[in-house]
Amino acid sequence: MTRAASSIASPETLPRHIAITMDGNGRWAAAQGLARSSGHEAGLAPVRLCVEECSQLGVEALTLFAFSSENWSRPAEEVASLMGLFFSAIDREVGELGRKGVRLRIIGDRKALSIRLQARIASAEQRTAGNAGLRLQLAVSYGGRWDIVQAARKLAGQCASGALRPDQIDEARFAGALELGALPDVDLLIRTGGERRISNFLLWNLAYAELYFSDRLWPDFDLAELARALEFFAGRERRFGLTGGQVQAEHPPVAQ
Ligand code: FPP
Repeated sequence: MTRAASSIASPETLPRHIAITMDGNGRWAAAQGLARSSGHEAGLAPVRLCVEECSQLGVEALTLFAFSSENWSRPAEEVASLMGLFFSAIDREVGELGRKGVRLRIIGDRKALSIRLQARIASAEQRTAGNAGLRLQLAVSYGGRWDIVQAARKLAGQCASGALRPDQIDEARFAGALELGALPDVDLLIRTGGERRISNFLLWNLAYAELYFSDRLWPDFDLAELARALEFFAGRERRFGLTGGQVQAEHPPVAQ
């Protein structure tokens, strides 16, 4: 059993949905005297590690923030190297994802991506669509506000065409129109790189998430740090707006 798996006291304390903001690639590269693109390349190893571990643990969904709506404003050279990395990595990894039973989906404004990257994404999604294991979402050209606006636009279109009445729009229907659709809300958000911000990630779906901030730079993220995040989550009392007493009455501690 790996270090992260062995630290889980009970499957009841395992998050169903983990989201990760993978920050710190550029600083990692600078510290080694390398180009920023090398930091992004080094960021692939912890991605593989988290996918493997979450699959083994039985986590239902893992959503990774790979490229934000705002990242388009980075130097053209860095944007191009990141797009190239997504293009090659998606193709290279899709076979392994298949063997692990992982279902891959890209969330974000895919129309902003090149036609050939869109095609590669569509093919990887198709090849893994029948897999029943971990649901892996890669957020590319994604912004939480963009997501809310595109959902509102979709529902407004349905209202305009008469397929939907405005009074039929409730939280569940709105959530269903977001990029994550029917996936469960995020339980645990991990952000590496030392910043303590949401940075426009999954604004709706993070409503009740526990937030774990790590000072590790993403390429240095390892199983021990994942285990610490899971231990932190297991120790949280999740109240969803109730009082601590109400929560304990609903879930009294089990006698050992
Ligand atoms: C943020 O670090 C990281 C990114 C913008 C890119 C994340 C991409 C990867 C980890 C590659 C993953 C690839 C696949 C296919 C999953 P930063 O550049 O903002 O770091 P800094 O804050 O130190 O400058």
